[in-house]
Amino acid sequence: MKIENKVVYEYIEEYIRKVQPKLDIELEAVRAQAEESHVPIIKPEVASLIHTLLAIKKPKRILEIGTAVGFSANLMCKYLVSDGEIITIERNADMYKKALENIKKLKTENKIKVIFGDAIEEMTKISGKFDVIFIDAAKGHYDTFYNDSLLLLAEEGMIIADNVLYKGLVACEKDEIVRRHKTIHKRMRSFIDMIMNNPEFESTLIPVGDGIIISKKIG
Ligand SMILES: C[S@@+](CC[C@H](N)C(=O)[O-])C[C@H]1O[C@@H](n2cnc3c(N)ncnc32)[C@H](O)[C@@H]1O
Repeated sequence: MKIENKVVYEYIEEYIRKVQPKLDIELEAVRAQAEESHVPIIKPEVASLIHTLLAIKKPKRILEIGTAVGFSANLMCKYLVSDGEIITIERNADMYKKALENIKKLKTENKIKVIFGDAIEEMTKISGKFDVIFIDAAKGHYDTFYNDSLLLLAEEGMIIADNVLYKGLVACEKDEIVRRHKTIHKRMRSFIDMIMNNPEFESTLIPVGDGIIISKKIG
């Protein structure tokens, strides 16, 4: 099994990108710089899906696990209600610094608070509830992030998890997976089973980007 396999065909992705609305100039600059520095950020199709979900949801509080350089946090800002906030967690010091720089550049300091630290620890210290929790960090820990998210999610809240198919690898059967990917395959599958089978949520797994799960708590 080659993990270069992709979830969506390139020509389809290219077409979708052409018809999508353009990002604001400042945000496009953050995206371009991330791409140039090989920082993994959400793909344009995922960005577009998140925009639409947030436009429907109109959240007051968003929690993000995995800030990187602050691209998705700045993207999500647009659909917060006027006094809303995003709390985002990043454990890599260089990313954290760059995220703060970008937040300053885009003048979103009053909306985005970046916590420097490991989300596994930091999530247990956060108080209050969130309308949306976006999981986009180390894939091997999605189950832990998910269990902690359940404690922090507001009634009728929504959990969004990116990269759940890991280039299609997760959809392959166990015996097709090479040894070095077996742990990630097992862990991601167990996370997917857990989230998709939680009876308190309506959940869907969509083959967009690298695979995304949207899970909405039923009130
Ligand atoms: C895919 S990138 C996030 C991209 C970002 N959400 C965006 O689209 O603009 C994943 C980030 O999560 C961070 N990360 C991974 N595991 C983490 C953890 N346990 N706690 C905090 N940050 C973590 C990595 O350092 C990396 O910067």
